Formats: sequence, structure tokens, C-alpha cells
Amino acid sequence: MNIEEAILCRHSVRQYLDKPIAPEHADALRKAVEEANAQSGMHMQLVLDEPKAMNCLLAKYGSFKNATNYVAMIAPKNGFDEKVGYFGEKIVLLAKTLGLETCWVAGSYKKIPEAVRLEDGEKIYMIIVVGYGATQGKPHRSKSPQAVSNLSEDSPKWFEKGVQYALLAPTAINQQKFRFELDGNRVKATAGIGPYAKTDLGIVKLHFEIGAGSENFAFEE
Ligand SMILES: Cc1cc2nc3c(=O)[nH]c(=O)nc-3n(C[C@H](O)[C@H](O)[C@H](O)COP(=O)(O)O)c2cc1C
Repeated sequence: MNIEEAILCRHSVRQYLDKPIAPEHADALRKAVEEANAQSGMHMQLVLDEPKAMNCLLAKYGSFKNATNYVAMIAPKNGFDEKVGYFGEKIVLLAKTLGLETCWVAGSYKKIPEAVRLEDGEKIYMIIVVGYGATQGKPHRSKSPQAVSNLSEDSPKWFEKGVQYALLAPTAINQQKFRFELDGNRVKATAGIGPYAKTDLGIVKLHFEIGAGSENFAFEE
């Protein structure tokens, strides 16, 4: 499975098999985490066989099962919300290509400081649970392309595909509070108001970029 296929069939999975992550899959995840850290200035860490984070009451209400592996999204305390989304979603999509399922978890987990290494000035923003799925999840309800963009009949195909891929992305409580505006070959992507909306923005910008093709446009900063 390639990354585009991963975008098309990824869903959040909350129930996992009681099966450790194979060494070759763990190595691939760790390598991707290291690359993303080098590019982003983050300090993400792969945590394996750690049952406590997802053993709290909130996680149980959220019906998580056998969620014992995760990537801890660690970065300097301020200003990394969007990068957490963009670089975390790279790991999510890679995991799917390896046959692993994932779920972003910002609320229903417990921070386990002894499972990670936090440098001065860093914090855990959230985690991404990863593992072999007992299910593959299911498609989420989605807004229309017109509700989240200025897509029209005259828009280029690449813009339509970018918006389509953004709508397939995970967002906190499936809020899809983002907007893509095309002007020439420049795209303005903005976050709406909602919990973790800046992290959602990073996630959907990655999906958009893969769908649209980065040779076709530039994001307006
Ligand atoms: C930033 C972020 C935080 C999330 N936090 C949680 C969470 O705390 N608990 C949970 O069960 N799901 C969480 N999710 C998963 C979303 O509920 C899920 O992505 C959304 O419903 C869309 O479904 P899908 O991922 O299957 O497409 C989170 C997703 C994102 C992007």
C-alpha cells in the first residue's frame, strides 16, 4: 500500500490485537520519527508495551482495547500545535502502509512521564496510539468540499483532489473546522475555532499537499 492508498482507507481504530509490534515495523516507525524530529525540531518518541497511558477511565469510556503502543507527540512547550499535526500525520500514514492502525488521542489518555524523555521546556502535546487493529475502523461523516473551500466548477483538478484528501483526514471530534482558499496557484489554509483546530490544520495540510501535488501550488504563510 502506498501513501495515497493509506489516505483513502485510513480510519481511527480504538481496538487492537494483543500482539507486540514486529521489530521491522518498530524500526520503520522509529526511523520515521527520527526523520520527522530532525525536520521539525520536535522530540517525538515511540513508546512500546506501555499499558498505563491508555488504561485510564477516560480511555475505557472511549472503548479503547489493547492500546499499549504509541508515539508521544513531544515538542517545545509553545508554538508547535500545527507541526504536531503535520509531522504526526506522516507517521499515521506510514503506519497504515505497514499494516498498522492508529488513533490520535488528545483527551482520553494519561501522561506517563517515566515512559518518555522530556527535555527542559518540552511537553507532551498528545499521543498517537498505534498497533495491529482488531478492526479497521469505518469512514467518518464528512462535510462537503464546498463547505470547507472555495472549490468551484472552474477550479483545477489538483485543488479538488487536495480538498478531497483533506476531508479524509482525522480531525478532533471529527470537527473538520478548516478552510482552503485557492487564489491563482496560492492556497491559503486556515484553522477554524475548535479544540485542537491548529493541530487539525497541520494534519489536513499534509493530506492536501499529497492530494494536490506540491509542484502545483504554494501555501500562503
Ligand atoms: C487532534 C486530534 C485529537 C483526537 N483526540 C481523540 C481522543 O482524545 N479520543 C479519541 O477517541 N479520538 C480522538 N481523535 C480521533 C477523532 O475522533 C477522529 O479522527 C475523527 O472522529 C475522524 O474519524 P477518523 O479518524 O476515523 O477518520 C482525535 C483526532 C485528532 C486529529
